[in-house]
Amino acid sequence: MNRAARIDEAARRLAACSGTPRLDARILWAHARGAVATGDDDEPAGRFARLIARRCAGEPVSRILGRREFWSLDFALTPDVLDPRPDSETVVEAALAHLGSRDREAAVLDLGTGSGCLLLAVLSELPGAWGVGIDKSVGACRAARENAGRLGFGARAHFVVGDWGAALGARFDAVLCNPPYIAERDIAALAPEVARHDPWAALSGGEDGLDGYRAVLAGVARLLAPGGFAVLELGQGQGQAVSALAGAGGLCTLASNADLSGIERCVVLQTKHGIEC
Ligand SMILES: C[S@@+](CC[C@H](N)C(=O)[O-])C[C@H]1O[C@@H](n2cnc3c(N)ncnc32)[C@H](O)[C@@H]1O
Repeated sequence: MNRAARIDEAARRLAACSGTPRLDARILWAHARGAVATGDDDEPAGRFARLIARRCAGEPVSRILGRREFWSLDFALTPDVLDPRPDSETVVEAALAHLGSRDREAAVLDLGTGSGCLLLAVLSELPGAWGVGIDKSVGACRAARENAGRLGFGARAHFVVGDWGAALGARFDAVLCNPPYIAERDIAALAPEVARHDPWAALSGGEDGLDGYRAVLAGVARLLAPGGFAVLELGQGQGQAVSALAGAGGLCTLASNADLSGIERCVVLQTKHGIEC
């Protein structure tokens, strides 16, 4: 069977389990061929069939490849990290808009860093900035550190295992955070690509999905330098609850930004000193 026929057949099979069957088939064929070319396997058709079977069993293409593009940067994925979502680029855009000048020597903190995608995307746009990423997962910190090194930000990005910002004494110009925000009871009903392949600790926001916000917002004000701000990603419909928690933590909501689907996706927060909320 030639290449086109193999891709047609795989796309027909994938139609039952993927919203983008032809694209998936093309990417997985290229991956199977690439692995053969690098000597990882000696038989592209057999390898392709195994990759299609994994995709049909609900494994996302990004997990099969072990890579995800975010902010035009190539991130390696491990089982310890959330697969970065395009919606999270809204957090990066908001942070860059509020940090201003490209020459700024900003200090950036990323709470719950996962793959390091938010911090490294911001550093990629600000050559004078440096940052710290915190995660409670040792494996996530290791993956983020490896991503930083491979992408050329190793000297400006440092990754530490911790419980949000609890152990930090420093202050930052920008604090980024995409906490786990799915209500625990809703996780099993998510698509298998998410429920079975993203780490539980990256998804579960406790009973109502807000536990991560409660913990972060109780302590984030003391981590902000004068004029500093925090950008938090939001789960759908969580804006009001998060702004209320922010108010209780001594913060005002400066702005909120929608993602490309028009869903309110992040809030920008600042300490209340001298500002009318
Ligand atoms: C939704 S993921 C976000 C990952 C990455 N920032 C992104 O946007 O793709 C949340 C991350 O928070 C981490 N996390 C959960 N609880 C934490 C805690 N108490 N302290 C630090 N990190 C935590 C998880 O391990 C996970 O990596």
